[in-house]
Amino acid sequence: MDAEAYEQEALDAIARASSPEELDAARVRYLGRRSELRLALREVRDRETGMELNRVRSAIEDAFERKEEVLTSASGARALEATIDITLPGDRLPRGHLHPITQIRREVEDAFLGLGYHVRYDREIETTEYNFDKLEFPPWHHARSPRATFFLNGDVVLRTETSPSQILEMEEHEPPIYMVSIGRCYRRDTIDATHYPIFHQFEGLAIDRGITLADLKGTLLHVMRALFGEDRALRFRTHYFPFTEPSIEPDVSCGICGGKGCRTCRYSGWLEMGGAGMVDPAVLENGRIDPEEWSGFAFGCGLERVAQLRHSIPDIRVLWENDLRVLRQF
Ligand code: DAH
Repeated sequence: MDAEAYEQEALDAIARASSPEELDAARVRYLGRRSELRLALREVRDRETGMELNRVRSAIEDAFERKEEVLTSASGARALEATIDITLPGDRLPRGHLHPITQIRREVEDAFLGLGYHVRYDREIETTEYNFDKLEFPPWHHARSPRATFFLNGDVVLRTETSPSQILEMEEHEPPIYMVSIGRCYRRDTIDATHYPIFHQFEGLAIDRGITLADLKGTLLHVMRALFGEDRALRFRTHYFPFTEPSIEPDVSCGICGGKGCRTCRYSGWLEMGGAGMVDPAVLENGRIDPEEWSGFAFGCGLERVAQLRHSIPDIRVLWENDLRVLRQF
């Protein structure tokens, strides 16, 4: 055989191979067990021919090795190009959002900040002194019962309302006072469509010279309209609270049934938003404020109620179950 011609032919074939498959075929042809070169090597009788054929073999082997490296890395790059289109937009990262109660808390805060109120957050574990006594709860009041309130011991409770913030605020600040306190409250309520043992309230307190019930009405109307829009109706009923005199209850018309009556509004067409009234002079005194000089109003509302009304949520429980199918809707 002509070793040099064979070598050239093999190198040409290697140079032409444009895929690993073609290269393999060339390898079989020029280096395989039945290749012309192998057969010739088997027949070698003299040293010189043997050396020449072995030089050709290792030259061809080297060329294969180099070409293989080029082809596999190039084919790797081509395979990547085939599966990744770098001009496509990237994968979207899943993004959460605030819980509806947090959204509404912030809206309430905004509404009051706009009126010049300051926001405070107080302790959820409260003494009976601040939760009841200083708010002038009479000794017989049902909220003092361990069947209504979670007692941690004889005179420490999970606060049943945000009203203790009224006393804390009065003790910390001189009037004029315009504050709203927001946070969790706890009661031994039986769970139903509108009750849950944990809930949120916002509590407002305004104390200044010459404050009247008309200021309370105007303020509540402004805030309710900020939260529900102009189309919701608002009504006030007279009521009793230990710490206000007179006391009222503001109701907002039910948005689920449009006022016709449904399970959520217990077929009345109205939803209680909490309570309000003029701060009782005795409570002002408990907060070391002179009722001869200052007067004020207070109110307390449930955030869950606001959420239910705002989004027409028929059952309060979904706000605590954290089912993403529900929460994603807000
Ligand atoms: N604390 C009352 C409740 O939990 C709500 C309330 C009523 C708050 C009258 C007030 C108020 O500030 O003046 O039901």
